[in-house]
Amino acid sequence: MIDLGGGEKLERWGNTITIRPELNAYFKPVLSKQEWYKQADFQFIEEKKTFGAWKNLTNKPAHWAIQFEELALNVCLKDTKHTGIFPEQRINWDKIKSFITPDKNFLNLFAYTGVSSLVARAQGADVIHVDSSKSALTRANENQVTNGLSGCKLVFEDAMLFMHREIKRKHQYDIIQMDPPAWGIGTQGKKWQLENHIDELIQNASQLLREGGILITSTYSPKLTAPTLHEIAEFVFPLKTIQTGILCTKSTTGKTLEHGNLLLVS
Ligand SMILES: C[S@@+](CC[C@H](N)C(=O)[O-])C[C@H]1O[C@@H](n2cnc3c(N)ncnc32)[C@H](O)[C@@H]1O
Repeated sequence: MIDLGGGEKLERWGNTITIRPELNAYFKPVLSKQEWYKQADFQFIEEKKTFGAWKNLTNKPAHWAIQFEELALNVCLKDTKHTGIFPEQRINWDKIKSFITPDKNFLNLFAYTGVSSLVARAQGADVIHVDSSKSALTRANENQVTNGLSGCKLVFEDAMLFMHREIKRKHQYDIIQMDPPAWGIGTQGKKWQLENHIDELIQNASQLLREGGILITSTYSPKLTAPTLHEIAEFVFPLKTIQTGILCTKSTTGKTLEHGNLLLVS
């Protein structure tokens, strides 16, 4: 992230620079908007709610790859303003990388385009990647192929239903990551509101977590605070170490963007 403010953020993805809306950037940016436009290749123009279109300012391709450590990550500009990568998740990718070994398994729920899955699979771990969006799974597979990897099990399923099935099968995991959206639509078209499900998600995760395992959860719902997450996790995992905090990133101009909250159970 280069700069932030005025309801937008200026970000660099490899050699390409984008401007897109950011609700939490209500303060003033450091650089002038004129300076932003001098740098930007694409700007997302919101049409209704979170949907819109990308304006190509410098005639660059709208699909390219960036390098993150040894991995190539595909960036693809979507009409939802997303790019296929949530850079604030870097803290979780680092945690997974430091914990995972080839003999461990990883359950990635709400797994999207699967950067975390790639990180774990590249270290030789067994990876189950669950998402209720077919296009997210297609892009996760594309990310695997781009990196010459295979074997991530891509599951098209509602995360909660999948957890219930896995509990019945008595399967357990060394790392579970959950990155649920604030709201969403499951595979059966059911609307999903995170604050109504967070207790159950954490409770289910506790049954799926192997002894000595870690649970990483990020939440993007303004209704869910870090103290609430802490309280739920302390209740569900009385013997584990619970850490919570604000999930944030800093622009190179020094502005902090708060995305949501982070829970680590270890
Ligand atoms: C915030 S994104 C995940 C970001 C990802 N972990 C990352 O950092 O790259 C949320 C994902 O949850 C998926 N999703 C929404 N509702 C779902 C549900 N009920 N079950 C499974 N996946 C769901 C969406 O399709 C989307 O890919």
